[in-house]
Amino acid sequence: MRSVEVIQARAGAEPVRFGLILGSGLGHLAQAVQGVAIPYADLRGFPHVSVSGHDPNLHVGTLEGVRVAVFGAREHYYEKGNPSAMRPALECLKALGAQSLILTNAAGSLRPDIRPGDLMLLGDHINVSGLNPLIGEPTDARFVPMTDAHDPGLRAALRAAAQAEGVALPEGVYAWYSGPSFETPAEIRAIRTLGGDAVGMSTVPEVILARFLGLKVAAISTITNMAAGLSDEKISHEHTKAMAPLGAAKLERLLRRFLNMQNLA
Ligand code: HPA
Repeated sequence: MRSVEVIQARAGAEPVRFGLILGSGLGHLAQAVQGVAIPYADLRGFPHVSVSGHDPNLHVGTLEGVRVAVFGAREHYYEKGNPSAMRPALECLKALGAQSLILTNAAGSLRPDIRPGDLMLLGDHINVSGLNPLIGEPTDARFVPMTDAHDPGLRAALRAAAQAEGVALPEGVYAWYSGPSFETPAEIRAIRTLGGDAVGMSTVPEVILARFLGLKVAAISTITNMAAGLSDEKISHEHTKAMAPLGAAKLERLLRRFLNMQNLA
C-alpha cells in the first residue's frame, strides 16, 4: 500500500492542514497530538532514521483543534549522503492535503544576542553545503524560486503567536552545513561574514522540497549552543540533546498557540 493509503486507513481521510517536523530533542510535542502514531517503518519511502534523540513516528490527528501530521524525526543529509531523503515523506504530506509545513531544528548561534535556550525564526537561509535535493529532478519544476521561501504570512503568524505567549522570537539567517562533524571556528567566522546568524545540519533541503511541492514553509531554530569558537563550552551531540529541552518548552507553547490561532482564524 502507498504511504498515503496506510495513513488514511489508520488515521482517517480528513485532510491534514499542517505538517510539522520536529528537530533533535523537540519530540515532546508529538505526544500531545490526539490521534495515531504510525511508525516510519510502516510507511513506504519514509526514512530509516539513525540519529539518537529522534522519534521515528508520524503522528496524525488534531493538535489545538487543527488537523496535523507531526514528523517525530527527519533523515539528515549526513546520515546517508542523500539530500532528498525527505522527499517521499513530504510528497506524502502534500497528498494528505497539507498546505503548510513548519520545520524545527536545533542550531548553534553566531549572534551574541541569541543565546542557548533562545528561539530564532528563520527569515532566510544560506545553503553553505552547495547540495540540493532537486539535483536530478528532470522537469522544469526544479527551477524553484527561493525569494520569500520562508513564507511571510506564516512568519507573521508565528511572531504573533510568540508575542501572545511572551516568547522572544528574533528573526535570523540559518546556514545549512552538511555535518555530521561540527564546524571549525574558521568556518563559523566565514559563515558570519556571509551573513549567517545560526548554523545547523538540517532544514534547508526540506525548505527547498516544500517549495518545490507548493507547500508554504516556515522554520524555527532552538539554539542549543554558541557556534564553534564563540564560547568555551564543548560542542557535542550529547550537549545538543541536553540543551534542546531548554528551548523546547517555549517552542511547544509557541507552536500550540500558533495552531490555536489558525483554528480560530
Ligand atoms: N552546528 C551545527 N549544528 C548544530 C549546532 C552547531 O553548532 N548546534 C546544534 N546543531
